[in-house]
Amino acid sequence: MENTRQLAGRHVLLGVTGGIAAYKVPELVRRLRERGADVRVVLSHSASQFVAPGALAALGTPPLVETAEGMLHIDLARWADVIVIAPATAHVLARLAHGLADDLLTTTCLASTAPIYLAPAMNQAMWQNAATQDNRAALSARGLAFIGPAEGAQACGDTGPGRMAEVAEILAALEDRSHGTALQGVRAVVTAGPTYEPLDAARGVTNRSSGKMGYAIAAALAEQGASVTLVSGPTSLATPHGVRKVPVLTALDMHSAVLAQRDHMQLFVGAAAVADYRPQTALPAKLKKSGDTLTVTFVRNPDILAEVAALAPAPFTVGFAAETHDLEAYAREKLMRKGLDLIVANPIDEPGTGFASDHNRVTLIDRDGTYPWASAPKTEIARRLALEIGQRLARRSHA
Ligand code: C5P
Repeated sequence: MENTRQLAGRHVLLGVTGGIAAYKVPELVRRLRERGADVRVVLSHSASQFVAPGALAALGTPPLVETAEGMLHIDLARWADVIVIAPATAHVLARLAHGLADDLLTTTCLASTAPIYLAPAMNQAMWQNAATQDNRAALSARGLAFIGPAEGAQACGDTGPGRMAEVAEILAALEDRSHGTALQGVRAVVTAGPTYEPLDAARGVTNRSSGKMGYAIAAALAEQGASVTLVSGPTSLATPHGVRKVPVLTALDMHSAVLAQRDHMQLFVGAAAVADYRPQTALPAKLKKSGDTLTVTFVRNPDILAEVAALAPAPFTVGFAAETHDLEAYAREKLMRKGLDLIVANPIDEPGTGFASDHNRVTLIDRDGTYPWASAPKTEIARRLALEIGQRLARRSHA
């Protein structure tokens, strides 16, 4: 039961949409508050027909109903550490899936980068309708998490999937995922940024990695309780809070810094853009111009990721594949050849994603499948990736 403190001090924004299951809302509020969460409630118009605002006010959480004017949705979006919509109607799923923002709840969701959980409640046929299922898939692909629905007898007399998850299940989902307990105390090593391979005293070969993705991953893992060492090539980024940074220059430096952790590594995320080759000799002085051409011999650098994946016992190993074409095929080939647990594939020829951008569009690939995620800020992708890794680590330790 140590989980029960996880929600203490967390800002939980509870969105309530219209549905008979809204009668469970006061209990959900009470249980969240018992756990120390700071709860604010937003009701959709139709929800007020199912849950009396007075009942919530009596619990100390007078609900917010409509965005009269001003910036309430922005304030709420920034305030929330986590958003949960329970019950979530077919209608709100459709509005969220399409980015509609026509009330306080949907504008807040659109404006927030907090994780969003949805506990659908509707008639079984409405849940199974292709339109709802398409919306569900679109929202899942964007990283919104579904809790339920459960199967069983429904208020309308039907039997099937569509009942709202029990309050206990909603709490468990929030507790489990809001702090990613699976990562608590896990010793993780993350590589990030480019490497710089000197050619002479003044020049070298490098690449266009900004390090943003790797830094965001290190931050997200640390936020979720992992003990993180970030082995970073040269970048201009600040070291994330709670992360131990080991600065390196070359691929060989990165290789030794990573392998120095070999006995203490439970998770390895290779997000660095490591130079595949380095100049065979780095001249100690600055090379002078002479002939019309210059020939440099490059030698292969060690593949850090593949070496880590081959350790015995190997940590949970996550690689990246940035490709301009045939993304999935190349990434899958890399996953298999390097013996990885998971690979994150991202296209580098799309405007507005990759490299120095703050956004990325990634596809996760493991031995069993391919999971495309919608484009999102790198920080959000990193958070989801950390949750995903945590869940996989937990499954592995229970296996
Ligand atoms: O083979 P490729 O360089 O495309 O693989 C990319 C993945 O391998 C990334 O996760 C990258 O960090 C890692 N890598 C590495 N050491 C290398 C080359 C790539 O760790 N020398």
